[in-house]
Amino acid sequence: MRFSERGQRRLTLAALTVGVAAVTASALAEDSMADPAVEIMAGSCTFCHGPNGVGVGEAVPTISGLHADQFAYMMRTYQDETNPSTVMGRIARGYTEDQIEQLALYFESLPFERPPQPSIDMTLVAEGKVLAAEYCESCHENEGRDGEGVGILAGQKLVYMRYATEDFLEGHREMERRQARKFRELMDAHGMEGFEKILHYYASVK
Ligand code: HEC
Ligand code: HEC
Repeated sequence: MRFSERGQRRLTLAALTVGVAAVTASALAEDSMADPAVEIMAGSCTFCHGPNGVGVGEAVPTISGLHADQFAYMMRTYQDETNPSTVMGRIARGYTEDQIEQLALYFESLPFERPPQPSIDMTLVAEGKVLAAEYCESCHENEGRDGEGVGILAGQKLVYMRYATEDFLEGHREMERRQARKFRELMDAHGMEGFEKILHYYASVK
């Protein structure tokens, strides 16, 4: 089941990647000697992550406003595949460490925007908030806006967060021990529904 789901994700995103390869190739052809300016590099991300780093649709995460360290960490773990991905592994491998740092600083300087997400079920939000306070808030502080090395959950894309949660639960993405314990406790007490409520809550945070 796992693999067919991942296959599905890949199919949806494969179409996007073709267009991007063309954009990247032409940008490089124009400027093959010098390091392309960071805006040009970032330009090839906008196809999926939008012109302001706000993910297109509900499966592509928003990357503007992410802490640069977390951004660079994600790119490196996509490169070495310790963080599974549908498309980012291939994309991230096209950039040097230096370029990743430039991209990380560039996107950090943009605000994290929170557009409406039509598939949020507002009836799940209140309960999700209570569960998040018990199981997630100790690390995902300030309603998921902050926290040391944890990314942003507040207003992050619902479907992306669901994929990330599945990757953690199925052992495809590494979790630190305390996080794994909270996930287990939540699963035992509330099952997948508990996760689902929490993710609807975080996605709804403005
Ligand atoms: C073809 C669409 C596509 C393109 C182009 C793309 N991304 Fe992504 N990005 C994704 C998807 C989808 C994910 C979720 C992981 C996955 O499944 O690959 C993601 C995840 C990320 C994340 C993790 C965000 C988080 O919340 O942790 C970062 C950082 C990122 N991308 C940076 C970039 C950068 C920088 C570029 C341009 C150099 C780029 N992406 C180009 C689709 C894309
Ligand atoms: C002990 C600390 C801790 C707790 C508790 C915790 N997390 Fe996290 N979470 C993290 C860390 C650290 C990361 C970043 C992992 C990485 O960079 O690979 C993360 C990342 C995530 C991500 C992926 C974000 C992204 O941009 O890819 C999701 C989704 C998430 N957590 C959901 C939850 C939920 C839901 C809960 C509560 C059930 C929770 N976490 C509880 C530490 C925690």
